[in-house]
Amino acid sequence: MSLKNKSEKEEYLTKINEMELGDEKPAELDSTDLFTVVKERRSVRHYDPNFKISKEEIQELLEIAVQAPSSSNLQPWRFLVIDEQEMKEQLLPIANNQQQIVDASAVIAVLGDIRAYQNAERIYGELVENGTMTKEIKDFYVNSINQNYGSLSVEQATKIAMIDGGLVSMQLMLAAKAKGYDTVPMGGFSPEKFVEEFNVPENFKPVMLISLGKGVKAGFDKFRLPLNDILTWNKF
Ligand SMILES: Cc1cc2nc3c(=O)[nH]c(=O)nc-3n(C[C@H](O)[C@H](O)[C@H](O)COP(=O)(O)O)c2cc1C
Repeated sequence: MSLKNKSEKEEYLTKINEMELGDEKPAELDSTDLFTVVKERRSVRHYDPNFKISKEEIQELLEIAVQAPSSSNLQPWRFLVIDEQEMKEQLLPIANNQQQIVDASAVIAVLGDIRAYQNAERIYGELVENGTMTKEIKDFYVNSINQNYGSLSVEQATKIAMIDGGLVSMQLMLAAKAKGYDTVPMGGFSPEKFVEEFNVPENFKPVMLISLGKGVKAGFDKFRLPLNDILTWNKF
């Protein structure tokens, strides 16, 4: 799908609010069993604008989210949490005026650092410190990471950051649901404008925005393609 101009994009993203959602509220979970949380998470676009999630709770969710796997454990994810109303207002037009930007408690911009490999020494050094890895093995890993990741093109490094950023984002959304909150992932924003207006360092590539808050209307019922249509065993 290609949407030519900003107003078409905005219409595409905001038309969803004309759809009938009824009075159903987001599910309050009795169980935080993973299967339940995964099934009950939906993209929620209506939030209580007066409900504030504390910085401590957001940090708690991020602590869980960053347990996600990442390429060579380089953890390229970086987070910009936008929880001041004035800053959310500034983000609104950059994100095609999607109402959840200003109504949710916070918007978490998930970013991917294309120079995350520069932390290899710190990350693998920690494994030597705690006795998991010998210094020789650590040196081997750090050298090869520096060589391999250090010679990637921006495009290749960005692809890795996007994959890892997607994984951490999913964990964040599930953690939020398990804590009684709701989220919606958003790709409908201008990464260029966002980078410019929020002074994002040039090595941090936007992965997605995630609105986080107390939902007041449930998201849409889930429709998923039947597994039979999307599953192949062994070989195409
Ligand atoms: C990468 C990505 C970008 C998305 N961008 C938007 C967006 O900009 N605005 C929006 O309302 N929903 C957005 N969504 C949410 C999808 O529409 C939603 O996940 C999908 O319809 C399935 O519904 P569910 O999340 O309730 O299961 C995005 C989802 C993903 C994964």
